[in-house]
Amino acid sequence: MPINIPRAPKKKEVTQKIRVGKKFVSQLPKGMHDVLPADFAYVERIEKIFKKVAAFYGFERIETPVVEDVKLFERGTGLTSEVVQKQMFLLKVSGGEGTLALRPEYTPGVARAYIESGLVHTMLPAKFYYEGPVFRHEQPQHGRFRQFHQIGFEIFGSDDPSYDAQVIVATYKIFDEMKIKDVVVKINSIGCKNCRPAYVKKLKEYYKNKQSKLCRDCAKRYNDNPLRLLDCKEEKCQPFKAEAPQMLDHLCASCKRHFTSVLEYLDGVGIPYLIDQTLVRGLDYYTRTVFEIFAAGVESALGGGGRYDYLFETLGGPKIAAVGSAPGVERIIMAAKAQNIQLPPKLRPKALLIYMGDEAKKKAFVLLEEFYRAGIVVHEAFSRDSLKSQLRVADKEGVELALILGQREVFEEVIIVRDMKSGNQETIPLKRIVEEIKKRV
Ligand code: HAM
Repeated sequence: MPINIPRAPKKKEVTQKIRVGKKFVSQLPKGMHDVLPADFAYVERIEKIFKKVAAFYGFERIETPVVEDVKLFERGTGLTSEVVQKQMFLLKVSGGEGTLALRPEYTPGVARAYIESGLVHTMLPAKFYYEGPVFRHEQPQHGRFRQFHQIGFEIFGSDDPSYDAQVIVATYKIFDEMKIKDVVVKINSIGCKNCRPAYVKKLKEYYKNKQSKLCRDCAKRYNDNPLRLLDCKEEKCQPFKAEAPQMLDHLCASCKRHFTSVLEYLDGVGIPYLIDQTLVRGLDYYTRTVFEIFAAGVESALGGGGRYDYLFETLGGPKIAAVGSAPGVERIIMAAKAQNIQLPPKLRPKALLIYMGDEAKKKAFVLLEEFYRAGIVVHEAFSRDSLKSQLRVADKEGVELALILGQREVFEEVIIVRDMKSGNQETIPLKRIVEEIKKRV
């Protein structure tokens, strides 16, 4: 008896109402978020571009543990940084192993791994890239999570300004290839060991008799980390910031040359930048170039980085100049969504395998594996035994063909190939079906 195949009911979503009782105990921890399939479309696009860019510039992948000894961040990221002071997730480990921290950033861990693994003896300069989760116990708000994801570049072993420019260009390319518009690099130089102390002294002199008028954070910054007085966002501190002495006027000749050279490299390849003398960054290890990258539609930085020529020494290692950058994946996705960026269409399966009856289902199960071996993407709807609902799935997945097996087809060792658009169908011997579909892919 021929199979009477109904047309797939159009435009009807395959959804089901499932009641979730009140007893379902689950609460996402504050500041955490799930990454659901719709967002993975963005994540995968970002990863693809990121890896292409990394490969082009010769970066090699590295991954460090999610937990590290807290001392690594106290010494590396720095005791005066907000990240270390307020934002670390700490784990007390029994057995005298001290305290571990969920990494609040990658940079000190990558530096540690470079020395500890001995790569320092074989790779110099060394270029690394990484991607993974990062944890900061911040007050959650728009674009600020407690677990987020960074992708990043680090270059160890050179203080050449072309490398400062290269990490900026490589980072910029990710946004550019994502088609994010109105991207701007804010850039500054915060000098080196030679010129910064004199500038900081001047800055403190300037702020000395203004301390009582500053916000509470700035009053603390005055003693702990005076440079950060410059990036305060509080209304009451703005007039003082505007009149404060500027770092660029106090750079030593070598830092000045370095900064000019970085800008020239950026000019050479047309990267739009804005010199922002209030940009100092929140992590303690930076020297010379610092930058943050912004885009229309998102208030916070999509990425940031800079040069850190003393980090290795601070960690007790040799002197190794370094520069790097780390964009946040969630922020890139926010910008892409705010700017209505369309992703390339998802690759659709060519066909859906449809079965009627137990024997046909078993045959379809085996046939699916033959398609896998042939490298042809074919989907199934094994949880839906009715023909109508399987056809709905075929429609929802947008497949061109439905491959239909009934009891009779199994018996006669054939399969029906139905064109989902026209409704035309033909019967093909089962042993030829993979080859036949291959021709049409
Ligand atoms: P950062 O500026 O602290 O730098 O973070 C880099 C990026 O991570 C930010 O621009 C932002 O996109 C993202 N991000 C930071 N905090 C959050 C958050 N709470 N929620 C969502 N996204 C966030 C660093 O981490 C340095 N390690 C960068 C670097 C690499 N410097 C040199 N090499």
